[in-house]
Amino acid sequence: MKLSRSLNTRLVLSHLAVALISIILMAAFAARFIFQAALAEAEHNLQGLAFAAGNALELPIQEVNEGRVDVSYIKDLLSRMFADNPEMEFTVYRPDGFPMADSSDTLPPRANRVNAPEVIEALESELGRGIRIRDNANGVPTMYIAVLIQREIEVTGILRLSIPMAPTQEAARRSFLLLVAIALIVTAGVSMFGYVLANNLARPIQVLTRAAQNMEQGDLSVRVKPSGPEELERLAIAFNNMASRLQSNVNELRAFVANASHELRTPLTVVKLRAEALREGALEDTDVALRFLGEIETEVDRLVRMVNDLLDLSRMEAGLVGGQRARLNLGAVAREVYETFNIRAARAEVALSLEVEDNLPPIMGNEDQIRRVFYNLVENAIKYTPCGGRVEMLLRRGPNENTVRLLVRDTGPGIAPEHLPHVFERFYRAETTQPRPGVSRGSGLGLAIAKSIVENHGGEIGVSSQIGNGTTFWADLPAAV
Ligand SMILES: Nc1ncnc2c1ncn2[C@@H]1O[C@H](COP(=O)(O)OP(=O)(O)O)[C@@H](O)[C@H]1O
Ligand SMILES: [Mg+2]
Repeated sequence: MKLSRSLNTRLVLSHLAVALISIILMAAFAARFIFQAALAEAEHNLQGLAFAAGNALELPIQEVNEGRVDVSYIKDLLSRMFADNPEMEFTVYRPDGFPMADSSDTLPPRANRVNAPEVIEALESELGRGIRIRDNANGVPTMYIAVLIQREIEVTGILRLSIPMAPTQEAARRSFLLLVAIALIVTAGVSMFGYVLANNLARPIQVLTRAAQNMEQGDLSVRVKPSGPEELERLAIAFNNMASRLQSNVNELRAFVANASHELRTPLTVVKLRAEALREGALEDTDVALRFLGEIETEVDRLVRMVNDLLDLSRMEAGLVGGQRARLNLGAVAREVYETFNIRAARAEVALSLEVEDNLPPIMGNEDQIRRVFYNLVENAIKYTPCGGRVEMLLRRGPNENTVRLLVRDTGPGIAPEHLPHVFERFYRAETTQPRPGVSRGSGLGLAIAKSIVENHGGEIGVSSQIGNGTTFWADLPAAV
């Protein structure tokens, strides 16, 4: 059962089955046809001989009847006629059925329906001819043909010839065997073709199976060479694409875990060192102790913020956070964020401004999430812009009529071109841009979160920047319909 389930075996067996069934059907028809044809030919030949000999006997019989020659003359004549055909036996009967001459030395009995039906048939049928295939006196299958010997319309005798059936049957059997042999050779050819075809199908499948098994063992670098029929080639290509995709996802995940652990370790180390220092004497000095406790608090705050960010980010990327969505007036959200940062900007000696275009369409979105986008962009702009700089928040129609565009533009140091494509990646921080003194770097998740939110809302986010010429972040959000 197991064997017949393999593709290879199935294809070969099905080819073989078709071939064998056709051969059996063909052999059955051919056998009948070949034997009938052989019989007809034998009959035809014997009949031709019989009529020729019958004609040749016309005169001699008359001469025997008139007493001019002895009856043995007839036997001699026929023996000479069939000298090269030793199997042939003959009997000549008188019209009343009594035998006159015979190839053997003894004459047979008078012809009747039982011992010589063909002779009676020749006498009775309009064709003047009788044919029988029956066993002879010795039980050997034999063909008998009897023809009338006539002078004008008068019947003067009957000639009966007989030959054994065996040579005819043997010839037919040989033709039949030859045919079957040819058919078997054809079957072998067909099966071989089936085998090649099956291999052609099965091999690419085996290759794919092995690759999939390797992948299951953890080897994500496996690729297969597309081969075989078109469908299997496409399957192989799809498999390779899937493997590449999986590999890059796994790599990304590994990088993420490495980054996350690294980011978490730094604040944890600070907390641990300060706690140790406090236990080993720093507690005695109230000023130092308070400073260390403050540092511990800051680091713990940072950890909490980072863990929350990570949680939000992973939920968002898994598409789990839809949140309540409603029609939002982006102008109102922008104003809130503007007011939140106003004091901070003033303290940092950065001029923060807000400009909202009239009659902007509302968007469909989650207010908390949209506020977070604004917040993260403005926070960065203030953080990276030195004293005396400017940060502008602009809300206007997008380049596309049914989007609203938020722009956050600053006069900061700008981002180097080699960092620019990466700033939206998780944990990515462009080391060349330093925040203003006294402001700590974030963990590099702010822009990743902003991007996730904007994309979840069907929007787009981007940045343009030149070193020394400030940075502009923009986010386009689709208007509500
Ligand atoms: N307005 C800006 N000007 C210059 N560099 C910026 C600005 N905004 C972001 N960046 C760069 O992009 C990086 C990623 O930003 P973000 O994801 O918010 O992380 P974080 O603010 O925690 O460093 C920052 O570390 C900084 O190098
Ligand atoms: Mg940030």
